[in-house]
Amino acid sequence: MISSTETRVIENIADIRVWRESVRSAGGADKPSVGFVPTMGALHEGHMTLVRKAVRECRHVVVSVFVNPMQFGPNEDFERYPRSFEKDLQLIREAGAKILFHPPVSQLYSDGHASSTKVIAPPELTERLCGQFRPGHFTGVTTVVLKLFSIAQPDAAYFGEKDYQQLTIIKRMARDLDLPVDVVGVPTVREIDGLAMSSRNAYLTSTERKRASELYKTLCFVREESLSGRRTLEDVLKVAGDRLNKMPEFSLQYLEACDPNSLKPLETTQTPMVILVAAKLGSVRLIDNLLVT
Ligand code: PAJ
Repeated sequence: MISSTETRVIENIADIRVWRESVRSAGGADKPSVGFVPTMGALHEGHMTLVRKAVRECRHVVVSVFVNPMQFGPNEDFERYPRSFEKDLQLIREAGAKILFHPPVSQLYSDGHASSTKVIAPPELTERLCGQFRPGHFTGVTTVVLKLFSIAQPDAAYFGEKDYQQLTIIKRMARDLDLPVDVVGVPTVREIDGLAMSSRNAYLTSTERKRASELYKTLCFVREESLSGRRTLEDVLKVAGDRLNKMPEFSLQYLEACDPNSLKPLETTQTPMVILVAAKLGSVRLIDNLLVT
């Protein structure tokens, strides 16, 4: 459905502040006034599910498209990260979001991101799982998200469960820093074969793309086998991890079953639990997870 709402593109902080002030008293008792969906662009159905939910639930929706250099490591894909601004704008317009915030790097990091003040979340959340393979990544994420919250001042902000560790860390940041924002998690949107949608899927060759659904199948296998009680959780994770690793081009980084709130690894199967996986498929790093309730 095409909405008639015009989307305004804003590139600088001063203009967002003026807009935010203009809607300050526009909230009713029934809905949050401003909903916010931060993204790095190259939008797909996963992102758009967040945007549509925000549009349904909030009076005004701001989407940001900003490829945040602070969250990329020196050997990661910041330069080649997919960028498709015109297409993103079109999708956001169709979904009915009012504001697309698209700042240049210099707006957010006027002296460069290396010398910026940073937000450090608890190491027990940030240094495990993806944090072992991407040092500093979550500091880049919490810092930019706090900056974006401070700029857009949303009442509610929407994040995907696809990045489960990120969502957990942002919820924790909002709680610890008493941020006046409701952090809303949205279930992962998948392709027909189970592959979690991701902007990085565009990097996969056609052979890799066919294999990529093995990641989701691994998570489902761990869920079924661990719930069946046939083997210990440790055995299930070992068998599933070895099986994935033996497939051509896959290189497992981690496969763990964790407590959904603390992200501490579990020794025995329990519900709720979250099973998380990261693997490289060729040169592409993929992550996924499954919440078992
Ligand atoms: P990005 O990878 O662009 O993702 C933006 C939001 O979309 C995140 O909350 C992510 O979890 C969600 N998302 C991505 N794929 C999804 C899927 N298949 N199903 C549901 N939600 C999905 O995550 C980031 O950007 C950045 O780290 C950011 C938070 C914007 C900070 O720079």
